[in-house]
Amino acid sequence: MLTFSKIKETTDFLEQEINQGRSIGFVPTMGALHEGHLELMRRAKKENDLLVVSIFVNPIQFNKSEDLEKYPRNLEADKKLLETVGCNVLFSPETEEMYPEEVNEKYDFWQLETVMEGAHRPGHFNGVAIVVKKLFEIVKPQRAYFGEKDFQQLAIIQKLVEMKKMPVEIVPCPIVREADGLAMSSRNARLTPEERTIAPRIFEILQYAKSKKDSICTGPMKQMVINMFEANEDFLLEYFEIADDKNLQAVTSWGKGEGIMGFVALQLGNVRLIDNVRFI
Ligand code: PAF
Repeated sequence: MLTFSKIKETTDFLEQEINQGRSIGFVPTMGALHEGHLELMRRAKKENDLLVVSIFVNPIQFNKSEDLEKYPRNLEADKKLLETVGCNVLFSPETEEMYPEEVNEKYDFWQLETVMEGAHRPGHFNGVAIVVKKLFEIVKPQRAYFGEKDFQQLAIIQKLVEMKKMPVEIVPCPIVREADGLAMSSRNARLTPEERTIAPRIFEILQYAKSKKDSICTGPMKQMVINMFEANEDFLLEYFEIADDKNLQAVTSWGKGEGIMGFVALQLGNVRLIDNVRFI
């Protein structure tokens, strides 16, 4: 595995590979790699000639400095995991390399960013869009792989690629879960052992809701799920929404039954967790 920290050496190397007709499958990450990331990488490796991974904890997508400071970092362990999936190139820059000057770009994702994560984490998606666009310009991937746990991020990135007419295929990949149902996330590493035993309840509640879908309308369903989360005093619920999977706007009925999902964000101790479930 080649490891680069500078933009120019990365683009120089990858442009040569592209000129020789090789396709690049790209998995952008913030490190603290887990099985969910590795699944994206295995798929990228299978579908492309080269697997390129970036590890960069992007400061401008954190709206709370405490969250940025506490974000788990373990580059040496990450590199070992990257070797196991046959990563060809790791791009792991310092902040000064990515942002030598203050960044002022502003994106407007309209209704996609006014709800859920966008509403609760002001500026978050603008920071994600800036870094993803920059990483795409550096790596020039044919395909880039993103997990559906961050479903709204995926929608924003698809919109970004469409708006900027970037020649990259965005490949959505299913959520990878622990055996007890907890969605894999780098943040899980920050749960205490006790919180870790409580966290699978998130998926249990979502699964229960899904099982009741045919007998409850969306309004009472939303209230039922909120009550279930609020009944657990370890959870501080930020939101539960039932929304359309294309425009991410809340729905008021199951309608014709196309593309409706449930989205949750909550705080468990000091850790913010998100998850989602497909109803239809
Ligand atoms: O999902 C993530 O890990 C990050 O938001 C991403 C896409 C790597 C951008 O920093």
